[in-house]
Amino acid sequence: MRTDIIDYLEKEIKHRCSSRANFFGMGVFYHIRAVADNATYLAKEYGADVEIVTIAAWLHDIASITDYNLYDEHHIHGMAIAERILSEFSYEPEKIERVKKCIYSHRGSKQKEKLTLEEICVADADAISHFDSVPSLFYLAYVNRNLNIEEGTEFVKNKLRRSYNKLSERSKETYKQKYDSIMNTISP
Ligand SMILES: [Fe+2]
Ligand SMILES: [Fe+2]
Repeated sequence: MRTDIIDYLEKEIKHRCSSRANFFGMGVFYHIRAVADNATYLAKEYGADVEIVTIAAWLHDIASITDYNLYDEHHIHGMAIAERILSEFSYEPEKIERVKKCIYSHRGSKQKEKLTLEEICVADADAISHFDSVPSLFYLAYVNRNLNIEEGTEFVKNKLRRSYNKLSERSKETYKQKYDSIMNTISP
């Protein structure tokens, strides 16, 4: 396991997130960390390559936090940034390609059936991260969007519902209990 790369990425992503160039604020760091944790868990659970998945999860949104202008195509720019960083660590080119694949497909641009196990872990973890940041969703609803109680509740539930529906069939099963209990807590 290349813990040197993973440790570096954690620090580097935190550094980039706290920089003024990051449009999204520190909340995105907690998002990325949640994605990394969930992706690593899924990789072990599904028998995917844990190292590839963990590295790709840390890097999946790197373009968006580095420069907001890259946001629209951040899955493509992210591949180039990942390539640069990982080459400096002399990471094997074949592994770099596998990491880049995960970054490219994390937004669901590719058909689910054609994804590798590693791509599924990162894409699913990205969607699942909402389940770990329900308070941020409420903040978005009530503070940023100024919604009333009912509208805010619907807004948050809709976001969670969409995230759940994006999951692979396997992850739908893995996370069904967690999803149901969150939804029930919000409005029984
Ligand atoms: Fe993303
Ligand atoms: Fe993300």
